[in-house]
Amino acid sequence: MKQTPAIKISCKNLNKIYRSKKTEILALQDINIDIADNEFISVVGPSGCGKSTLLRIFAGLDEATSGDILLDNRVMAGPGSDRGMVFQAYTLFPWLTVEQNIRFGLKLKKMPKPEADQIVEKYLSLIGLTDFRNRLPKELSGGMKQRVAIARALANNPEVLLMDEPFGALDPDTKGNMQLQLRELWEKEKHTVIFITHDIEEAVFLSQRVYVMSSRPGRVIADIPIDLPQERDLDLKDTQEFIQIRKKIHSLLHSRDFGNNLHATN
Ligand SMILES: Nc1ncnc2c1ncn2[C@@H]1O[C@H](COP(=O)(O)OP(=O)(O)O)[C@@H](O)[C@H]1O
Ligand SMILES: [Mg+2]
Repeated sequence: MKQTPAIKISCKNLNKIYRSKKTEILALQDINIDIADNEFISVVGPSGCGKSTLLRIFAGLDEATSGDILLDNRVMAGPGSDRGMVFQAYTLFPWLTVEQNIRFGLKLKKMPKPEADQIVEKYLSLIGLTDFRNRLPKELSGGMKQRVAIARALANNPEVLLMDEPFGALDPDTKGNMQLQLRELWEKEKHTVIFITHDIEEAVFLSQRVYVMSSRPGRVIADIPIDLPQERDLDLKDTQEFIQIRKKIHSLLHSRDFGNNLHATN
């Protein structure tokens, strides 16, 4: 009998309305998403469609207006170390070295030093920055900073890694490299990853599945399985199979966007 993988995190009938005295913005409408344990999924959609809002709700940093987030089938409330976050903006502690940044969460947890040392060494090596352990963030390139941010998140052994356009500020070459490294990291030690991006190519390259969102109000308009080889390198982006999936998502986004563009002001 074929076993269906366990659902790690999901949202049910999720709605988010931002209310102020004068306006009401329906940011997310009836979102239903199921992500299996160790699955890598992306969410793509135009700017302002509610991607960051959705991720913040998954992280427990913002509340849904209605609907539930379930983690291991239990309703989730508030933030927790079971979820690790990586943002687009560089969020390393500027006064801490690479090593101290990676160690930060382990210190908070009061993990015994020998155990913490092992984890720090492992992630320094996985991100290829062992020789940069004593550098400060200001001495690193953008790509290196994001590698440290990913290592810092993973060192805490989160159940789910939440990433909001983490490579959005990088130049195209560095960005491609980072995609490759993230994909390799995921192949080595599987995690459940929710990756937010407006870059279709990036979503297809990284993911096992891609959710496509429409512009405001943000709805999920498609759930696309990415049937590409598990082992991926950057040449994959030039193959017919890849280009076909990319085009399909592109046309989905554009056909739906047409009528909504007037409302998508940002
Ligand atoms: N704190 C907030 N207060 C009011 N409106 C917000 C807030 N955050 C986001 N929005 C609005 O919700 C919509 C979705 O925003 P966001 O989640 O940032 O989209 P994305 O990440 O896809 O660009 C946008 O119209 C945005 O202006
Ligand atoms: Mg955003």
